[in-house]
Amino acid sequence: MSTPTAINASISVKKELVTAEKRRNPPGPNEPIPFGRIPSNHMFVCDFVPEKGGWQPPEIVPYHNFDFSPIAVVFHYGQEIFEGMKAYRPENTGSKSFYLFRPEQNAQRMYNSALRLGMEPVPVNLFLKAVEELVKVDAEWIPDAPGSLYIRPTLIPLDEGVSYRASTAYRFFVCLTPARNYYSKETGVSVYIEREIVRAAPGGTGATKCGGNYAAALPGLNKAKKLGAEQVLWLDAINHRYVEEVGAMNIMFVYEDCIVTPPLSGTILPGVTRSSIIELARSLGYTVKEERIDINQAIADAQSGKLKEVFGCGTAAVISPVDAFMDADRTIAINNREIGKVSTHLKNALMDIQFGKAKDPFGWRKTVEF
Ligand SMILES: Cc1ncc(COP(=O)(O)O)c(C=O)c1O
Repeated sequence: MSTPTAINASISVKKELVTAEKRRNPPGPNEPIPFGRIPSNHMFVCDFVPEKGGWQPPEIVPYHNFDFSPIAVVFHYGQEIFEGMKAYRPENTGSKSFYLFRPEQNAQRMYNSALRLGMEPVPVNLFLKAVEELVKVDAEWIPDAPGSLYIRPTLIPLDEGVSYRASTAYRFFVCLTPARNYYSKETGVSVYIEREIVRAAPGGTGATKCGGNYAAALPGLNKAKKLGAEQVLWLDAINHRYVEEVGAMNIMFVYEDCIVTPPLSGTILPGVTRSSIIELARSLGYTVKEERIDINQAIADAQSGKLKEVFGCGTAAVISPVDAFMDADRTIAINNREIGKVSTHLKNALMDIQFGKAKDPFGWRKTVEF
């Protein structure tokens, strides 16, 4: 990597807090929270401007809209990357602290995404400072468990003009939005097997969290919804046969004697939840293999009962059991559409670490006092 991953100087963040009249209250415990729709009162903003010497002084300011010219690069060439992570409220509600879960992993992934998209990478320590300081300011927005505060760091270009090139200036910003359940139902999700279009190809951007990946995946999601499925199962771009991811989650297959998940081949997102579940499951005595999974074999195994459970895993939903595959005109139920023991075991074990209810032998949980 050519760029240093951190700024050398210590980072101080200027704060302009929202006025009393404009201040909004977070949703109450009994109010519905549509996922990702309600921004908290503040946001973090820091621009990279080469003519001014690079990263400018970072600020926390009242949540507001940006003003961009229609010929701004941001609207034309897809240089946009983001991250998704959460802040968790400890059970003792009087506590003046919150937890983050492996935030340095998100910082490093965003750094890698930026390099792949030809963008100025956000220094890892600037990313971590942004997240911590912003959540401290809006800590009252962290819902009680099992809810959490979803954190959306984003990097966009700032240059203007429609000539095709990488932007020179960038804006790194972070917004917060309270979250309860990602999926409306707490049972399994049904998954449509997309056998034609692909999400990512070798040498492409599949391992980054860039907006373009998600746009290219939307026709698959739309098809899934039309067929009554909740998510899309993506297959590899060459054989249209090996399992990659499910929607915005990594995927795991539970057999009698082991858990199997596709390897990080460069076309799937290296999920923080994925790597945590692999480590956690091994520590709990499960055998976990990172191997290619042939969808046709997995279907046969589901039908014969050899395949016991399938689940997606990601920050938003933690673990989402898959209760059926929808393939062309057939539906294949998994585990009689019941939530399996392994999914439940791993979900509870991971959430207990995230919410501070269990010991964290891995050092994943970061406590931030405010
Ligand atoms: C395409 C895709 N795969 C996998 C994941 C899971 O990643 P993580 O566990 O870091 O949330 C996400 C989550 O955002 C995703 O968008």
